[in-house]
Amino acid sequence: MNPLNHVAIIMDGNGRWGMKHKNSRNAGHKEGLKTVEKIIKETIKNKIKFLTLFAFSTENWKRPKKEINYLFNLLENFLLNRIQDLHKQNIKLKILGSKKFSPKLNKLLNNSEKKTSKNTKLQINLALNYGSKSELIDAFKKINKNKITISEKNIDKNLQTKNIPVPDLLIRTGNTKRLSNFLLWQLAYAEIFFEKKLWPAFNENDFNRIIIEYKKIKRNFGKI
Ligand code: IPE
Ligand code: IPE
Ligand code: MG
Repeated sequence: MNPLNHVAIIMDGNGRWGMKHKNSRNAGHKEGLKTVEKIIKETIKNKIKFLTLFAFSTENWKRPKKEINYLFNLLENFLLNRIQDLHKQNIKLKILGSKKFSPKLNKLLNNSEKKTSKNTKLQINLALNYGSKSELIDAFKKINKNKITISEKNIDKNLQTKNIPVPDLLIRTGNTKRLSNFLLWQLAYAEIFFEKKLWPAFNENDFNRIIIEYKKIKRNFGKI
């Protein structure tokens, strides 16, 4: 059985779920947050140490302002209401992506990271304004500036995910089979599951079904 240390999720399908059930994309984002809570609980139950959630991509700025504002309000309220409890549960929060938000949100994100930085049960990496290509470009720039050799190890060390083991398992909900600029380097050997269900409809059983499947896979890493 494969060990499972790190699960990454592209939480896709909120907008479609919202339109179908409430005639509002934003209602889908709100509902999607409930799935986030469920999956965090289930991740802990499964004793998984790292959970990376793709919440907002560098390309998502192309969306209507109204939707973007709604998403960041949702995030702000989530952190204000839930960070203390996450902290009590010994969960560490880390933000991936560049924090170029309102001063208020930047501060809230920094404080949430700082507050939980010593926690050890589960690390949640929240990818916000994250794009894998821009992460790689920044890493190459740092390597170039410091005049160090371009090597796999040095690239790893200069990514925002330094000190985080690579994902073993990637789940993308929402019935779309693409990576959308998410962890392109880090997912080189991940097992990938594309789920038909939209993120708000995804639940603990779906998550556990995928984990059981994942554990049975023969992971070769080039060997036989
Ligand atoms: C959530 O799903 C992902 C975010 C960018 C917040 P979407 O909002 O992309 O939902 P669909 O794919 O349009 O249904
Ligand atoms: C990927 O979903 C980004 C997040 C889940 C945050 P998108 O809905 O933005 O992806 P595309 O545009 O359909 O590829
Ligand atoms: Mg989408």
